[in-house]
Amino acid sequence: MENTVTITDNRTEKQYTLPITNDTVKAMDLRKIKVNPDDFGMMSYDPAFTNTASCKSQITFIDGDKGILRYRGYDIADLAAFCTFPQVAYLVIHGELPTPEQESAWLTELRAHMYVFENIKKFMEGFRHDAHPMGMLVSTMAALSTFYPDAKDVRNPETQMHSIHRIIGKIPIIAAYGYRHSKGLDYIPPEPKMGYAENFLNMIWARSPMEHLRNPVLARALDVLFILHIDHEQNCSTNAMRAVGSSEADPFLSTAAAAAGLAGPLHGGANEAVLKMLGEIGSKENIPEFIKGVKEGKQKLMGFGHRVYKNYDPRAKQIKKTAEEVFTITGRSKKIDLAMELERIALTDDYFVSRKLYPNVDYYSGIIYEAMGLEPKMFTVLFAIPRAVGWLAQWHELINDPEQKIARPRQVYVGHEQRKLPDSYTHAAR
Ligand code: ACO
Repeated sequence: MENTVTITDNRTEKQYTLPITNDTVKAMDLRKIKVNPDDFGMMSYDPAFTNTASCKSQITFIDGDKGILRYRGYDIADLAAFCTFPQVAYLVIHGELPTPEQESAWLTELRAHMYVFENIKKFMEGFRHDAHPMGMLVSTMAALSTFYPDAKDVRNPETQMHSIHRIIGKIPIIAAYGYRHSKGLDYIPPEPKMGYAENFLNMIWARSPMEHLRNPVLARALDVLFILHIDHEQNCSTNAMRAVGSSEADPFLSTAAAAAGLAGPLHGGANEAVLKMLGEIGSKENIPEFIKGVKEGKQKLMGFGHRVYKNYDPRAKQIKKTAEEVFTITGRSKKIDLAMELERIALTDDYFVSRKLYPNVDYYSGIIYEAMGLEPKMFTVLFAIPRAVGWLAQWHELINDPEQKIARPRQVYVGHEQRKLPDSYTHAAR
């Protein structure tokens, strides 16, 4: 069998044979297809990149039809059951799980970066009390770029790793300080000896810097949630990370851009939207009316549907399990029963079944965060902390990929032909 595809251009009756690699044709090969020799040549048109591979990647594998998600070849369920977040972060960044020595060096490196300068704290104090924590995270991440000008040396392998350690070390601190700021509370300094998730919870919950709050069940639940959110191949925010990173902007700026992409309600902002939706539905009796509204196009069932998964999101399955563990500590949330009933009804309704709409990662995560005492506006920030690891792994892959260049899509121009300025404008200039 020959690995080629032959296209007949019916305009000219010419045939073109294009090589197939990894089940793809190179979009640039389409350029050979022309009517006249001086034509630009054919392009592919793919708004929202629904069928365009923008890179080769070794990080994350998804089979959306079967509901499979793997990081570096390992199944997400195994990683969530047997590993810690820092171990999986190491795996995603470096490609292999750490040996005990590598893990110890990795933790030492991350702990060394668990601080922010006083000016960063002052910068954050400038936000209004009701500033959205995602806005604070995006801006403060961008501000960090000004503290680390060496990060602009993006082609230097040592600098690349240094930036990766800095961002993974600092992002939970910025996230926690944003939360404390919005509550009018003092900042709690990081306690690097605590676990990564445990330290984050302490920075959120502690009443004074002297207090060290430990809750192993909740810390492990957050650790698992962090693992599940690390990477998800070429989604909106990762695409932003790669697009901005391709201009050789430093990784702090690229991470800020990626976080901005995550903030929208169609992406990471959906977990916040799910809680709002459940609040509006209120009780089980109102579910049929709500579903009717969804089917009439009045609103979406937030936390349902996915560009890639046409099956149950494997992360949602894990999160549902984690929720039960959290409720043993926090007490059962009424919202989980409402969410489960909403899921049950939706999954027996032809509207959702025929469109293959299933719960995604955001459907249950917010319910856990809320049970832990976190407010909906923090939910997307909780997504951004672990996702920074995925963004950085993708950025690292991009920056070291000889096939990559500055990202610059084409367009199909459908505007005016050339036209003259109106006389009223040219007269005024005279
Ligand atoms: N509720 C109701 N209908 C939906 C939903 C939903 N949540 N999602 C998709 N549909 C419908 C669409 O209206 C469309 O119907 P049609 O064929 O009659 O026009 C059909 O299902 C296909 O949907 P698309 O919008 O074409 O799917 P797309 O891949 O573009 O969108 C997305 C995926 C954005 C996730 C969408 O499902 C959605 O908006 N979901 C709700 C928001 C959400 O939960 N986002 C989080 C995603 S996970 C993440 O980013 C971490």
